[in-house]
Amino acid sequence: MTRKACVIGWPISHSRSPIIHGYWLKRYGIEGSYERIPVKPEELPAFFSGLIGQGFAGCNVTLPHKEAAFRTVGTADAATSRLGVVNTVFARDGELWGTSTDGEGFLASLTAGHPGWCAKGQTVVILGAGGATRALVGALIDAGAARLLIANRTRAKAEELQRDFGAKVEPRDWTEAAEILRHANLLINTTSLGMTGQPPLTVDLDNLPKTALVTDIVYTPLETDLLQRAKARGNAIVPGLGMLLHQAVRGFDLWFGTRPEVTEELYDLVARDIDP
Ligand code: ATR
Repeated sequence: MTRKACVIGWPISHSRSPIIHGYWLKRYGIEGSYERIPVKPEELPAFFSGLIGQGFAGCNVTLPHKEAAFRTVGTADAATSRLGVVNTVFARDGELWGTSTDGEGFLASLTAGHPGWCAKGQTVVILGAGGATRALVGALIDAGAARLLIANRTRAKAEELQRDFGAKVEPRDWTEAAEILRHANLLINTTSLGMTGQPPLTVDLDNLPKTALVTDIVYTPLETDLLQRAKARGNAIVPGLGMLLHQAVRGFDLWFGTRPEVTEELYDLVARDIDP
């Protein structure tokens, strides 16, 4: 039987998920398909009502549907209830369930990109507190991080993360970003700064210990200005593309019944699509 999955969003043309899942379907010889489906916000309820009937095992959900999907399908686990968003929907016993794989994808990407890395006891400096930050905060706390210093232009959003995730989250002003780097074992950019078409992230890195690991959730370009500056001064870096690849693993397993491997070949395939 051919199994089907898809990614929905509006717009959706930029999604690299079809490359990732298409690669795995071929690699594991699975008779299945993974397509890109544009769904307008007002079409979302009808889309979900028809998903199982059309033979889909589930879908990935991207902007702007992650919150609406959370409200529409069942919540598969407690970590996802706390996030309030889903990126992966799957059918079980005739019903749709949703989960978020961004947090585990982030942790797996760091472990794969920097073998031996472990969140336990770490002080993490996070720049930005937008929609993408929540899953990372949840995953880092669950994995035993000691402190999460979060500097955001709109401080209230970092304070909201503290309310939701507790006292390990310490909100800071954006103007303090360069100063608090001195505490970091791990530095993460979760702002859109540095993305192709956006201004660069210009926070001074002088205070950052050389032993700190630096990562960015931005993956266009593959190496952001932040990562290049960090690398040039001797810090280890993990590019954001790893998170995109690793967050896809559990969805593929849920829909197609095989836990796939993030291979170097897959990394290169998607990297070439981003930067030919
Ligand atoms: P969301 O994911 O919530 O939609 P976004 O607009 O994509 O948010 O922005 C993601 C992050 O980038 C936010 O933390 C945002 O800061 P604000 O919360 O103050 O909006 C941050 N960001 C975007 N542009 C920025 C800039 N020029 N300087 C500093 N931070 C910026």
